[in-house]
Parts: sequence; structure tokens; C-alpha cells
Amino acid sequence: MSFAQTLAHRAEQIDAELANLFVAGPAAATPSRLREAMRHALLGGGKRLRPFLVIESAYLFGAGAPEAAASAAAIECIHSYSLAHDDLPSMDNDATRRGHPTVWKAFDEWTAILAGDGLLTLAFEILADPSAHPDPAVRASLSLLLARASGSAGMVGGQALDLAWEKLDSTSPATADQVRELQSMKTGALITCACEMGAVIGGADDEARRALRTYGNALGFAFQIADDLLDAEGDSSKTGKAVAKDKALGKATLVELWGPGRCRDLLAELQNDCRAALAPFGDKATTLIATAEFVATRDR
Ligand code: IPE
Ligand code: IPE
Ligand code: MG
Ligand code: MG
Ligand code: MG
Repeated sequence: MSFAQTLAHRAEQIDAELANLFVAGPAAATPSRLREAMRHALLGGGKRLRPFLVIESAYLFGAGAPEAAASAAAIECIHSYSLAHDDLPSMDNDATRRGHPTVWKAFDEWTAILAGDGLLTLAFEILADPSAHPDPAVRASLSLLLARASGSAGMVGGQALDLAWEKLDSTSPATADQVRELQSMKTGALITCACEMGAVIGGADDEARRALRTYGNALGFAFQIADDLLDAEGDSSKTGKAVAKDKALGKATLVELWGPGRCRDLLAELQNDCRAALAPFGDKATTLIATAEFVATRDR
């Protein structure tokens, strides 16, 4: 199976788990308009990279997809909520996401805000439920990781820095270090978290957990650089969202600061960093190494 087929196959399994949240799962009793908006945010496509990373990282330590299912669903709820809010008129003001109208376009702003709120809370309901993992200490550990990565010192903090540069500080361009910090929070934190959650589910020791964190950091950095390159040079029929927006909005990105050529060199370096971090795992890490290649060269 090619990497693209493996990713698509996992995405199908993950989609089924996510859809079930609204049928027999904790979101079944959600009022209908809100429920449709949450489904729109969560189920309308998406690469499902973060849940994929949870499952593949857990697999590295011998845990199977069923053991990783709750964490995989929870992290995708957080990610999808972050996108629903990121697209709002007061944030990036986007009309298309995953090839469909954004949540606020398909519904309205208040519904999009509440759909995001609902998905954020749902993530922690999934993780706290005894069915997530038999050991309460593991459930607490997974919840703590996800809360830290998605909160004000992680994704939300990074979004705040991103928007502050765009809306408040655009007269003074950000430095590369500032862009790095902003991006490691807004995107890197959740990607690193996905890898570390997999390690926790698999009962990895401290050293192995550190290796997964190092991999996740490099992968997350590469992921956002690739996202910014796709905004500058990508094809919206493939990415499913508008392109050529970051420059117009005055976003702080390395593509803007360094140009695409130097960013591509950095992507190649980061791919090597990913490989080096996983060297101790030998052949077992083949899929995660292929993931790094996909992230660095993706067109969607
Ligand atoms: C887009 O994430 C937002 C960023 C963090 C750069 P993805 O590219 O993973 O979006 P989907 O989930 O596949 O739509
Ligand atoms: C968003 O980054 C990262 C999030 C935490 C949602 P972008 O604003 O660049 O993501 P896209 O390009 O809209 O998907
Ligand atoms: Mg944004
Ligand atoms: Mg955006
Ligand atoms: Mg972008």
C-alpha cells in the first residue's frame, strides 16, 4: 500500500468513529442546528493527519488502533474546532474549507462559534470517559497533554500571536524566531501532542517519549511551512481552501520572510531531523518517516 492509500484508509476508519459521536456517542443529544454545524466542521473531509499520528505513534509501541481511537477522535475535534474559529470573519475571514463553505458561511457566525465550543468540550468528554482507556492515570495524562497543547500556551496562544501580528503589529515585520515561536504554538503543539499521546497509549518510556516529541516538533514546523507554501503557490482545487491570502493579510510567515526556495531547503532539513529522531525505532518507524516525507512535499 502506498503512503497515500494508508492515510486514506485510516481517514475512513477515523471518519466512521467521528460520525458515530453524533449517533450513539456523547454528542447524540446535541440540538439539531448546532449538531449539524459541528458535523459540518468535523466531517467535511480533512486529511486526519493528527489522529493518524496518534494511531501510528501508538503502533510504534505495540498498541493497536482501538486503544488509540479515543485520543484520535479527541484531537481531531480540537483541530476541527480550531479551523471553524480560524475561518471566522474576525480571524482569517475564509469562505472555503476542505472544499466546502466554512462553518460560518454555511450557517452563521454565532453557530460557528458555538460549534467550535461544542467540539472543544467534546474532545475532553471523550478523553475523560472510562471507555477511553482502562487506566485513569493514562486518561488524566492524555487529557493534560491535549489541554496544554491546545490551550493558551499552545494552539490558542499561537493563534493569538498570529492575529496580533496581522492586525496590530503589521508595521514591523516579525523576525524568523518570532515566526518560529508563533508557529510552534499554533500548529506544532498539536502535532507534537498527537505523537506524544501515541507514546503514552503505548506505554513508552521517557527516552522514547522524548524521541517522539523531537519528531513531532520537526514535523509540526515542516507542516506549517508547507501550509504557508501552499498558500503562496498551491492550487485551491487541491487544498480545498483559498490561496494567496497570507501575503494580502500581512501574516507573519517564513515564506514571506525568506521566500519559497529557502523554505524548501528547510523542509528537506526538517525531514532529516524527523528521520534522525526515529532512528532508534528502525523499521517499525517506516510509516512515520513516510509521514514526514508526505508533510514536506504535500500539495493538499
Ligand atoms: C490546516 O490543517 C491548518 C493548519 C494547522 C496549518 P490541515 O492541513 O491538517 O487541515 P485538514 O484537517 O487536512 O483540513
Ligand atoms: C491555522 O493556520 C492554524 C490553526 C491553529 C487553526 P492557518 O490560518 O494558516 O490555517 P489555514 O491555512 O487557514 O488552514
Ligand atoms: Mg489562521
Ligand atoms: Mg486560516
Ligand atoms: Mg494557512
